Amino acid sequence: MDGTLATGFDVEKIRQDFPILSQTVRGKKLVFLDSGASAQKPRAVIDAMTRMLEARYANVHRGAYFLSEESTAAYEAARMAVARFLNAADEREIVFTQSSTGAINLVAHSYGRGILKPGQAVLISEMEHHANLVPWQMLRDAHGIDLRVARVTDAGELDLDDVQKKLADGKVGLFAVTHMSNVLGTVTPAERLAAMAHTKGAKLLLDGSQAAVHRAVDVQALGCDFYVFTGHKLYGPTGIGVLWARKELLDAMPPFLGGGDMIAEVTIERSIWAQPPARFEAGTPPIVEAVGLHAAIDYVTKIGMKAIEAHERVLTEHASAALAKIEGLTVLGKAQDRGGVFSFSLDAAHAHDLATLLDRTGIAVRSGRHCAEPLHTRFGVESTARASFGLYTTVQEVDYLAEALTEARKFFR
Ligand SMILES: Cc1ncc(COP(=O)(O)O)c(C=O)c1O
Repeated sequence: MDGTLATGFDVEKIRQDFPILSQTVRGKKLVFLDSGASAQKPRAVIDAMTRMLEARYANVHRGAYFLSEESTAAYEAARMAVARFLNAADEREIVFTQSSTGAINLVAHSYGRGILKPGQAVLISEMEHHANLVPWQMLRDAHGIDLRVARVTDAGELDLDDVQKKLADGKVGLFAVTHMSNVLGTVTPAERLAAMAHTKGAKLLLDGSQAAVHRAVDVQALGCDFYVFTGHKLYGPTGIGVLWARKELLDAMPPFLGGGDMIAEVTIERSIWAQPPARFEAGTPPIVEAVGLHAAIDYVTKIGMKAIEAHERVLTEHASAALAKIEGLTVLGKAQDRGGVFSFSLDAAHAHDLATLLDRTGIAVRSGRHCAEPLHTRFGVESTARASFGLYTTVQEVDYLAEALTEARKFFR
C-alpha cells in the first residue's frame, strides 16, 4: 500500500505539511499515535498565526483604527469558516470558547441553570470524557438536577434501550453525549439519538471533540441542538473551542461569564446583555487562536473530510485486524461504527510501563484513563494505553505499533 487512496489522498505528501513529524525521538523515527489527545499542526496553521501576530494583530471589536478592524475581520472570518465547516444555518450560532471543556461548562451554566428547572434531568452516558460529566455533576449539586447515565454495552456501544428507558418519563431536559468516544473509538448514532431525545422533549448536545476531526459534521443533518468541538484536536491551536447551538436556544440563554464585550448597555446598577454570540464571549477572546483554527479548517477542508474519513477507515480496519492477532492484548470495545482510537491492555503489564517501552521505539501513545475514569471502571480495567490516529498516520506506523506490542509482550513475560 503506497498511502495514496482513490480519493487522491497522499499521506506521505500530507506528512510533509507537519514539520514536527520529520524528527527523530530517542534516535528513532517519531511515530506519533496520540492525536486523540492533541493533534500536530500543519505549516499552514503555524504560518497563519505568525502572520496574524506580525501584521494584523490588535484587540477585536474595540478600536476604530486600521489594525483593530483587520483583527476583527480575521476573527469574524474564522467564525464564518466554522459555520461553514459545521453547516450551521447562521454564523451567529457559533460561539468561541476556550476549549470543548469551556463550551460544555458554558452550556451547563447558561442552559443548565438558566433554562433547566430543578427536578428536570440531564442524561449522559458511561463513555463520556470527564469534560462531559463533571460539569453536569456540578449542575446537579448546585441546581437540583437529576443526573442520569445511559449504559454502554460490552461491545462498547451506547445501549439504546437504556437510553430509551432513561428518556421515557419526559423529565430529561438535555441529553449530552459523545459523538465519538475518546477511549473506545465508538461513533454514536447521532441522528437517531436526536430523534429519540426530541420525541421525549429533550435537547441533544453532541460532544464532537473527537468526531469533528475524523468525519464531516453537518449539524443541521444530525438534528442536534448543541455541538461542541475543540481546536487543538483539529490540527489547530490550543486555547480555542467551539460551541454551536441553535439560534433560538442561544437567544434564550443567559450569559455564563460577565465582563467586557458581552453587554449592550451597562450602568452601575445593571447591564443589558448583547445578542449572541457576543453575549457568550466575555473579555478578550482567543483572537490569534481563531485565526489558527480558521487555517486548520481551510487545511482539512482542502484535503476533504470525506477523503480524511476514507483514509482513517483504512487505518482503523488495518489496526483492528493487526491488534486482534497479538496474544495477550485486550482492546476495549468493538463497535460497528468506530474511528481510529484504540485503548488496550497487555497481559499484566501496567499501561504506563507499556507506554514507556513503546516510547523507546519512538512510538508516542497515551497511557492512563484518558479522562474517562468511569468508563475504565465499567470495563473493569485500572488503566489502558491508547493509540489514536490522525490524517497523517500511515498503515506502516500501525504495523510498527503492532510489531512493537508483540515485542513488548515478550519483554514483559
Ligand atoms: C470526547 C472528548 N470530549 C472532551 C474533551 C476535552 O477537550 P478539551 O480538553 O480541549 O477541552 C476531549 C479531550 O480529550 C475529548 O476527547
